[in-house]
Amino acid sequence: MQLSGIPVLTIQEAQALNAPPETALGLPGRAYFAKDFYEAERRNVFAAGWMGVGFASDLKESGATKAISIAGWELVLVRGQDGLVRCFHNICRHRGMKVIEGSCTVKNLRCPYHSWTYSLEGKLIATPAISGVRQNESPGIDKDGLGLVPVRCEQWFDVLFVNIDGDAIPLKEHLRPAINRIDRSFDLSEVQQGSGGRSGKFAYAANWKVILEGSIEDYHLPFVHRAFDHSTDYLTEDGGSVYAGFSSRRTVEEAIRRYETENKGLQLPMMPKMLKSGVTESLALFVFPNTVLSCGPYAISTSIIVPTGPESSEYISTTNFVKEGTGDDYAQLRQKNADYWVEVFGEDEPIWETVQALSHQREELGLATRFSPHWEKGLHLFQRYLADKLESRRVRDIEAIEPSDA
Ligand code: FES
Ligand SMILES: [Fe+2]
Repeated sequence: MQLSGIPVLTIQEAQALNAPPETALGLPGRAYFAKDFYEAERRNVFAAGWMGVGFASDLKESGATKAISIAGWELVLVRGQDGLVRCFHNICRHRGMKVIEGSCTVKNLRCPYHSWTYSLEGKLIATPAISGVRQNESPGIDKDGLGLVPVRCEQWFDVLFVNIDGDAIPLKEHLRPAINRIDRSFDLSEVQQGSGGRSGKFAYAANWKVILEGSIEDYHLPFVHRAFDHSTDYLTEDGGSVYAGFSSRRTVEEAIRRYETENKGLQLPMMPKMLKSGVTESLALFVFPNTVLSCGPYAISTSIIVPTGPESSEYISTTNFVKEGTGDDYAQLRQKNADYWVEVFGEDEPIWETVQALSHQREELGLATRFSPHWEKGLHLFQRYLADKLESRRVRDIEAIEPSDA
């Protein structure tokens, strides 16, 4: 893939970001709105590794398809006859129409413009009327070479990830540090994948990093959210270049109060092992760049931050409840839990959108991000990851363009 090597951060800015969190100067205002910055992220961060794009539980049967627009890439996810989910660039090989819009279940993928038709595995299978009325073949059109362009797609848990440039290490190898960290505290077999249904799709007038940074710290909790206090037991989770996040621990009684999971005497079931030990844990891992694994005493939520432009994003999420809590008896409680999170995100929204709007003035005034050394170490790790990723790619690009004499 051609990479452009756009300089997005100065050397001084990158150095200032690498200081300890209490003195570090974080990303400048333009990181949140500039088209150049977004374009560099689009190619050098989102296309150059594994990004979360959707949930396998949304594509239940063979023929289920879903169009995804993420970081300027138009993709389509398709579950094939063999049960595997594949991903393709959602661009017709004829004259570039988008093949699939929205979500649907189909027998094959038919372009709405001139009806070129692809199998669920992406093979071009029909070119109706290409050589005239009822003349469906053309000797110069070799169908074998005109399938939809595949994108590497792998699944972990319920999350579908894609790697657009095709150069990333296998997904499970890449995710190993995050998987190991989750396994230390949670047993994924205790939850039912896809059980909670959709807990939300939100759209924000804010850069994707405003959403991520607004979720990766507990600093703002008691100031913004009605339901939350600061956790006394709060640790930063440092997963190097793979993830950052935080964890907190509380007793079973404290967890019941915090998460409002009780209704008319009925209590949403907790992870059996936590209930037994009397101590619950919440763990939020932000798998770079855009996937959030949020593990708590009742459920594991998987969320994806979807950049839709330099100043707009979506947030999609599913919740996988503890198996005992997935029956009809608990439907109201699961709904209550979903409503609760809608309220929490509703409290964040005006803050995020104001921060976004002011990023332009921040750039003019030269006001860099600052960090709380206690609460925002994970946020600082994220910004360092991003700067490293942009910088290492840029250096590689410049070397590719201007080979040294050596
Ligand atoms: S653009 Fe798809 S069939 Fe013509
Ligand atoms: Fe919040």
